[in-house]
Amino acid sequence: MSSSVKFFYGEDLPLEMHKVRVVQKLNVGTIDERLAAIKEAGYNTFLLKNKNIFLDMLTDSGVNAMSDLQVSAMLSADDSYAGSATFTKLEDKLRELFNTRYFLPAHQGRACEHLLAKTFLKRPGMVVGMNYHFTTARSHILLCDCFVEELVAEKGLAVTSDDPFKGDCDIDKLNDFFTRYPIENIGFFRVELGTNLIGGQPVSLGNLREVSAVCRQKGTPLVIDASLMADNLYFMKTREELCAGMSIREITAEICKCADIIYFSARKLGCARGGGICTDKKEFYDAIKTLVPIYEGFLTYGGMSVREMEAMTVGLDETMDFDMICQGPEFISHMVEKLLQINVPVITPAGGLGCHLDAMRFLPHIPQTEYPAGALGAAFYIASSVRGMERGTLSEERAPDGSEKLSDMELLRLAMPRRVFTLSQIYYTVDRIHWLYENRKLVGGLRFVEEPFMLRFFIGKLEPVSDWSQKLRDAFVSDFGSEM
Ligand SMILES: Cc1ncc(COP(=O)(O)O)c(C=O)c1O
Repeated sequence: MSSSVKFFYGEDLPLEMHKVRVVQKLNVGTIDERLAAIKEAGYNTFLLKNKNIFLDMLTDSGVNAMSDLQVSAMLSADDSYAGSATFTKLEDKLRELFNTRYFLPAHQGRACEHLLAKTFLKRPGMVVGMNYHFTTARSHILLCDCFVEELVAEKGLAVTSDDPFKGDCDIDKLNDFFTRYPIENIGFFRVELGTNLIGGQPVSLGNLREVSAVCRQKGTPLVIDASLMADNLYFMKTREELCAGMSIREITAEICKCADIIYFSARKLGCARGGGICTDKKEFYDAIKTLVPIYEGFLTYGGMSVREMEAMTVGLDETMDFDMICQGPEFISHMVEKLLQINVPVITPAGGLGCHLDAMRFLPHIPQTEYPAGALGAAFYIASSVRGMERGTLSEERAPDGSEKLSDMELLRLAMPRRVFTLSQIYYTVDRIHWLYENRKLVGGLRFVEEPFMLRFFIGKLEPVSDWSQKLRDAFVSDFGSEM
């Protein structure tokens, strides 16, 4: 196990417990190529082309490294439309790990969110409680003319903290939530493990048990979003006394005992591409199952390729190995430590999913209405050829009157797809963040030129509010030359 290997000279380094056997060539490009590429992409890192990117830290979704066993499993898939043996294998694996009898496949995480919203939100005006929303989870609820209430504990919104479980729900707020809404107006309660939008912060098993007890007493289904469960398992094992003596499989089983429904994006959990919904409750299975052939595909593939399902079965099993799940969080923690040493503002404690730069402290001169995290993402790409993702006001939806909803945090997420990057690539990234931090006053804000009505961060186009990107380019050339 990586964290137990000690170095003779005392340094604390995250040691890879795997070796690289297939590689992809990368290019850094020149500063002028990057400036042209980000202009063409409307200053939105989602719209960059991979050929113009050196390190792709946009997301961990569908881009984790696969193991040799996953790749070889893909070759023996059964592609029957109905009754595929590949599906049965996956279903059996989920039964074994989650102790749930029923599995409904879907093409990815947001498809599960769509099916859940369609099933549980029966009329406009219903509410879904959550520790914290995820963009696509909330959009499906809004599209049903329903709404979300967030009950994350106050500690979750503190950008710097040493609290180990900033994704926990506030139990007082949860009890209060049930006094404010009649039970028939509550669709379900959703707990997201490894909270994506607030820095990949985990939920504790202790808190999950409390939430589950309240939801069961009130009669509201508890839905767990397990997309980021791999990182959350690592943090439960290493940070929570309750879990210290349990194996990863045992912790997984304890998590699942708390839930009525578990759904996941297998682009994250299981290092493949797909998703699904698991439950032990026949009434929920029956209620959702009719929608699967309509929106996803037949019940034994749900829009997924059988090859991906084979890889997922192996990937889910490998997620039970501490050596596998420790790699992401340990690399992230190492990167966060390096950034703290040079006083770069980051979310602490280090979470899962990626390293999160705090754009409000990095670029305090940019108002939230000019999207500081989006500007930081564009500026960092220009300086480094590393692609991150904005997680801030750009990732919010406007209020019905058209005004901006300012997000709780303005983060530039530098995702750490599992087992993909090397330490020297992390050090390069830290070096370029350092350079940008020294030159941060040059960076200015952004404004929309094309703004979609929902999930605008995916495909919206922006422009700089001044000629700051050119000035940033000139500063870079004077330090590094124009060939880098
Ligand atoms: C916590 C969480 N839930 C759901 C999703 C949606 O999954 P997908 O991208 O597979 O649709 C994501 C994706 O980033 C996520 O991080």
